[in-house]
Amino acid sequence: MKVAYLIKYGPANTAFDIREGEKPQPGPNQVLIKVDAFGLNFADVMARLGLYKAAPPIPAILGYDVVGYIEACGTEVQNKKVGDRVTALTRFGGYAEYAIAENEVVFPIPASFPLGVAVALATQYSTAYFLSHMMANLQKNDKVLIHAAAGGVGTALVQMALHKKCIVFGTCGSEEKIAYLSKNGVHHPINYQKNDFEEAIRALVGKKGLDAIFDPVGGKSVKKGFRLLGAGGRLFTYGVSSMNQDKSVFGKIRILVQFGIYHPLQFLSNSKGIIGVNMLKIAEQNPEKIATAMAKVIQMTEAAILTPHVGGEFEIARLAEAHEFLESRKSIGKIVVKW
Ligand SMILES: NC(=O)c1ccc[n+]([C@@H]2O[C@H](COP(=O)([O-])OP(=O)(O)OC[C@H]3O[C@@H](n4cnc5c(N)ncnc54)[C@H](OP(=O)(O)O)[C@@H]3O)[C@@H](O)[C@H]2O)c1
Repeated sequence: MKVAYLIKYGPANTAFDIREGEKPQPGPNQVLIKVDAFGLNFADVMARLGLYKAAPPIPAILGYDVVGYIEACGTEVQNKKVGDRVTALTRFGGYAEYAIAENEVVFPIPASFPLGVAVALATQYSTAYFLSHMMANLQKNDKVLIHAAAGGVGTALVQMALHKKCIVFGTCGSEEKIAYLSKNGVHHPINYQKNDFEEAIRALVGKKGLDAIFDPVGGKSVKKGFRLLGAGGRLFTYGVSSMNQDKSVFGKIRILVQFGIYHPLQFLSNSKGIIGVNMLKIAEQNPEKIATAMAKVIQMTEAAILTPHVGGEFEIARLAEAHEFLESRKSIGKIVVKW
C-alpha cells in the first residue's frame, strides 16, 4: 500500500515522501479501513514542524481522521462488517491507503456525506462537541468567545454554540473570514489583526464579562481571555497555535510566560476558571467519551443541525500544498486529502 511518510521536520515541500508500506492487520477489537481520504488537523502542521510532542518519531505516519470502507474486522468486532462506509479516528496512521482504528471510534456514515464532511466529524467536530456540550455545558444566552472561529474546530464550535442559542463572539485574522463568520451567524465577528479582541469585547459586554471562551491560540490570548470572563465563566485552553510563530527556545518560553500565572484562590474569589482539554488524553483514559461525541455529531449532521464546511480538497500528490494552506492561516473549515 502507499503511505505518505513524514520524513523530515520543516517546510511541507520537503517533509513528505510517498512510499510503499506494509498493510497493517487489525487486532481483535480493531478495524482495517481502505482509506478514500484523510483529514488534516492543525496538530499535523505542528508535528511536521517538530513541535508536537505526542507525534511518533520520523519516519512517521501522521493522520487523525479517515473516511473509507471497512476492509477487515478484528475477531471481536461484532457490530460492523466488511464493506461498511465509515469515518474513524486513527490517532496517527491516517496518511495511508489502509489504516487501523479502534472499533469504538469507527462509525458507519451515510453514502451522502462528502469526504471532507466525514473527516471533519471525527476529530474537529468531536473535539468541539466535547468542549461545548460535555465540558462547558453551554446554556441559552451564554456569551461565548470562540477563537480561530473560521477554522475546523472553530466552525464546529460556532455551529454548536448557536444551536444552544448562545451569543457568539468569534475571532479570525482576515476580512474574508469575517464575511464567513457573519454568514455562519456569529453575532460579533472580530478581526484580531485590526482590533484588539479584549478591548472590542469589553466595549460590548462591560463588567459582566463572558460565560465561556474556547482558546486554541494560547499565550497572551489566554491571559486576555481570563480577564474577560465574568462570574461563572470558564476558559477552555485546548491548543497553542501561537507556538509556531517563534520556534526558538526563547520564543517558546515567552509564550509559556504570556499564558499568565494563576492561583486557585483567584478562581475561587472571582468564581471563574481555566480548564485544559487534550483529546489524546481523553482517548487514552475515557475513550467512551469520544465515542459518545462522535455518535452525537454524526446524528446532528444527519439531522442537518450541523453542517461542516470543507475549505479545500487536495489529491495526495498535493499533500504539501494542503499542509501549506492550513499553515498559512488562510484556510476555512476542514481540509481533506484524497487518495
Ligand atoms: N486539545 C485537543 O485535543 C485539540 C483537538 C483538535 C484541535 N486542537 C487545536 O485546535 C486548533 C484548531 O485546529 P484545526 O485543525 O481546527 O485548525 P484550524 O483552526 O482550521 O487552523 C488553524 C487556525 O488557527 C488560527 N491561528 C491563530 N494563531 C495562529 C498561529 N500563530 N499560527 C497558525 N494559525 C493560527 C488561524 O486562523 P485565524 O488567523 O483566522 O485565527 C488558522 O487558520 C489547533 O490549535 C489545534 O491544535 C486541539
